[in-house]
Amino acid sequence: MQSFGDSGIFANEDALREDWTPTELPERDDELEAIHNALAPASRGTTAHNLFLYGKTGQGKTVAVKHKTTQLEEWATDTGEIDLEVIWLSCNNITSSYGCATKLVEKLSGKNPNGHDQQTVFDKLYAELDSIGGSIIIVLDEIDNLGQSDDLLYALPRARSTEKLTDARVSVIGISNDFNYVSNLSPKVKGTLCEKEVEFTPYNATQLRSILGRRVEIAFQDGVVTEAAIALAAAYAAQEKGSARQAIRLLYEAGETALTEGDDEVTETHVESAHSTLERERIVEGIRNVTPQDQVVLAAVTLLEAKGETPSRTKHIYEQYTGLCSQIDLNPLQQRSVRNHLQDLAMQGFVESERRQSGLQGGDYYVFRLNTTLEMTIDVLSEDSRFQEVGIADQLSRASKNQSR
Ligand SMILES: Nc1ncnc2c1ncn2[C@@H]1O[C@H](COP(=O)(O)OP(=O)(O)OP(=O)(O)O)[C@@H](O)[C@H]1O
Ligand SMILES: [Mg+2]
Repeated sequence: MQSFGDSGIFANEDALREDWTPTELPERDDELEAIHNALAPASRGTTAHNLFLYGKTGQGKTVAVKHKTTQLEEWATDTGEIDLEVIWLSCNNITSSYGCATKLVEKLSGKNPNGHDQQTVFDKLYAELDSIGGSIIIVLDEIDNLGQSDDLLYALPRARSTEKLTDARVSVIGISNDFNYVSNLSPKVKGTLCEKEVEFTPYNATQLRSILGRRVEIAFQDGVVTEAAIALAAAYAAQEKGSARQAIRLLYEAGETALTEGDDEVTETHVESAHSTLERERIVEGIRNVTPQDQVVLAAVTLLEAKGETPSRTKHIYEQYTGLCSQIDLNPLQQRSVRNHLQDLAMQGFVESERRQSGLQGGDYYVFRLNTTLEMTIDVLSEDSRFQEVGIADQLSRASKNQSR
């Protein structure tokens, strides 16, 4: 029987978890310097610059801002030179300026001002900020959740010049992994929020290797993880999104696999198996979270992929889709909505879309192909009872077998 406790693999497993903060980020020296320079005016007694950070998921944006704001806080406490308050708000689940201001007031006063109109809530926020006084840095992480509701982002940086604030010097740091977020903001808001901008470009395999190397030293027992395993995990993550988060997860999963299998080393084999496990989880989770129509559109693309008919135009995918709809007794959508569903699936990373030029006839068009592992997607879709009943699972696997012959 398996027993609990006793790991021959991990030394400090906490270091592999999401809430663990690394002490150094040498791969982000330049970005840290840019954040430093934006915050520096606060240490000279004036208002820090507003700052906007963007880049794909898992690139160290959150952790880099944490480092710099913490360093500034420590400096302020040690020297007593300035009064500084850093207010950190994750905008996950907050979808408007009103919601954001409400959360900030609640955080500062302990009371929820819900039910008041927007201006009243903003005024309460100004009052709270002024009662703190000094330099205040408001970090809005995952700011893209606010969408185009940008009244607060307009009002806050101007609050001193509009005399809403007298004692507080407020600046805003926005962090986003949505590249379209800023382009949809009104020009005035964009101008102030993006006073300084820092882009976090995806990590390459070499950088991910050093990140993993440092993490392995802390999290695993000495010599347990092979160099080849680290290199493979870094290569997988680099190939996909260049995400440090993904690389670390991969290694954690590989460690757990080695442990369950009773092995005393973490090798490439464990990383490979961890990669399939995580890829499968991603697909299962993703498919569960999209609408039933999205799932059928995805099944259509999968079928075409299995037949080797991708990249494919919307029209072709639509024919496949309506065929599937009639088999599973679903009312088909119009072609135009299917195109929107395809774009949604592309946003979520299930399909890849590419714009093509159609030459003289005018008007560009898009082609789509599957962006997940084919076999695994077939596997996951096949578990769906609607698809099972009408034998789409068989069609899918037959098509992919024919193709690989
Ligand atoms: N240069 C680095 N060195 C060590 N660990 C890193 C580095 N960059 C990122 N990490 C780790 O990778 C994980 C993801 O980093 P972080 O949360 O900062 O990403 P993010 O860019 O904010 O992503 P998202 O857009 O999804 O919020 C964290 O566990 C973090 O500790
Ligand atoms: Mg983040």
